[in-house]
Amino acid sequence: MKKYVLITGATSGIGKEVALRLAKEYNIIFHGRNHENLEILSNDVENSLFWCYDLSLVDGISSSLKALMEKNEIVIEKLVHCAGIDDNLPVKLLNYDSIEKLMKVNFYSVVEIINILLKRSVNKNELKNILFISSISAIRGYKVKAAYSASKAALDAYMKVLSLEVAPNIRVNSILPGAIKTKMTEKSFENEELVKHFVEIYPLGIGKVQQIVDMVEFYLSDKSSWVTGQQIVVDGGSLV
Ligand SMILES: NC(=O)c1ccc[n+]([C@@H]2O[C@H](COP(=O)([O-])OP(=O)(O)OC[C@H]3O[C@@H](n4cnc5c(N)ncnc54)[C@H](OP(=O)(O)O)[C@@H]3O)[C@@H](O)[C@H]2O)c1
Repeated sequence: MKKYVLITGATSGIGKEVALRLAKEYNIIFHGRNHENLEILSNDVENSLFWCYDLSLVDGISSSLKALMEKNEIVIEKLVHCAGIDDNLPVKLLNYDSIEKLMKVNFYSVVEIINILLKRSVNKNELKNILFISSISAIRGYKVKAAYSASKAALDAYMKVLSLEVAPNIRVNSILPGAIKTKMTEKSFENEELVKHFVEIYPLGIGKVQQIVDMVEFYLSDKSSWVTGQQIVVDGGSLV
C-alpha cells in the first residue's frame, strides 16, 4: 500500500509551505476546508491527494478520513497537525462556547485523527511520526490568549503522554513557534507598534514560515531519531 504524509491545515500559512516542501520527498495529503484551493494545490503536486473536511465537526472525522484511506488504498506514515484557529478574548469574556470552538480545531480533531491512524485494521501499523504545530503560547502567557493557550497546552500535554504510549514505534513531538506572518497573524503584522515590539523581543529578528518548515522537515526525518515527547521552541530566542 502506498504511504502518505497527512498535513492538516495545508491550504494556508505554515501548513501549506510544509506540504509543498514535504512533497519533494514524500507522497502527501493536503488537508483543508476549501475544496477549490485543495484541488488547485493537489493538481500541481504529483501523486498527492487531498482531504476536504471541517475539523470543527469532530464527530465525523474518523469516518471521513477512513473513507479517504480506503478509497485510495493508502496508509499514513507521518502526520503534521498544522490546522489551527486563534482568538483574542479577555478572560472576563471567556465562556464554554468560545473555548470549545478553539479546542475542537486545535486539539480534539487531532485526537480523532490519531485514533483512526492507530487502528491496525485501517493503517496497518504504518504510522511512524507525529508532529504538532503548537505555539509558544502553550508555555507562556499573553493577554487575551487564554483560550488559545489552553488549547495548545492541552495539545502538548496529550503529545507527552502519547509519546510514551506509542514508543518505540512512533515518535511524537510539538513545535512551538513564536509570531510568524501568516493569514492568522496578518492583522498583528499590520500594527506598527506591535511589529516594533516583535523586533525588540526577538534577538534573532522576526521569524519566517520557511524557518518553521525547516524544523518540521528535520523532526520528521531520521536525523531526529532519538527525539520524542518534546516541546521544541522555535521563536528566535524570544525574551518574553
Ligand atoms: N502564525 C503564527 O504566528 C503562529 C505562531 C504559533 C503557532 N501557530 C500555529 O501554526 C498553525 C498554522 O497557523 P498559520 O499561522 O499558518 O495560520 P493560517 O494561515 O490561518 O492557516 C491555518 C490553517 O488551518 C486551517 N483550518 C482552520 N480552521 C479549520 C477547520 N475548522 N477545519 C479545517 N481546517 C481548518 C485553515 O484552513 P482554511 O484555509 O480553510 O481556513 C488553514 O489551512 C496553527 O496551528 C497555529 O496555531 C502559528
